[in-house]
Amino acid sequence: MNILITAGPTREPIDPVRFLTNRSSGKMGYAIAHGLIHAGHNVLLISGPTELDVPDYVDFVQVETAAEMHAAVSHHLGKMDIAIFVAAVADYTPAVVETHKIKKTGDRLTLELVRTPDILGSARSALGFQGTLVGFAAETENLEANAREKLTKKGCDLVIANDVSHTDIGFDSDHNEVLLVYPDHTDSLPSAPKTELGATLADLILDLHRAKTSD
Ligand code: CTP
Repeated sequence: MNILITAGPTREPIDPVRFLTNRSSGKMGYAIAHGLIHAGHNVLLISGPTELDVPDYVDFVQVETAAEMHAAVSHHLGKMDIAIFVAAVADYTPAVVETHKIKKTGDRLTLELVRTPDILGSARSALGFQGTLVGFAAETENLEANAREKLTKKGCDLVIANDVSHTDIGFDSDHNEVLLVYPDHTDSLPSAPKTELGATLADLILDLHRAKTSD
């Protein structure tokens, strides 16, 4: 099977020496890539900047910004059976990237930000993807309800949700504990190392794809 995964943060430049980013380490997406490779599938990993080693046997596309990630996904999605959007994509990017380093002048500085493309949100509609679509939701409140809203709005088959208000799981941690939000029910998985969870999620997504394609 051909499987696309987005992972890691994006980095949105402000000027030649500064950027906006977030605390995503990329570990969850890379762990799922390992699990799918281990199960014998072709994995295309489209990743923002991380400190992780590129897993053996994956096809790897390195990107920096949300716009670059969107372009890479748009280019490859048509050939995919399954797409898993784990990346913590910046929702906003500076309206203007200064060509010279911004100098300090007044006591305040206002940055104007504009929306980035919603990559997962464009998969079904603009990109016409009909395969199995999996999204992630990082929430600090109303975990299940917010994840279910994303599932419906973005046309996903599954949204994997985690509560990022706990510092011992999720963003920047080696462990994660997730809710599995499907169109007709919700399951949960107990806290586990991301490496182990990656293998569990890989198997679960493959099962979901088999169930969807056998209908
Ligand atoms: N995502 C994406 N492109 C974006 C933003 C998010 O592909 N520009 C994907 C993420 O990879 C993840 C899911 O969408 O799978 C997260 O959904 P989103 O609604 O963007 O979550 P938040 O960024 O947490 O948004 P909000 O602040 O509205 O809750």
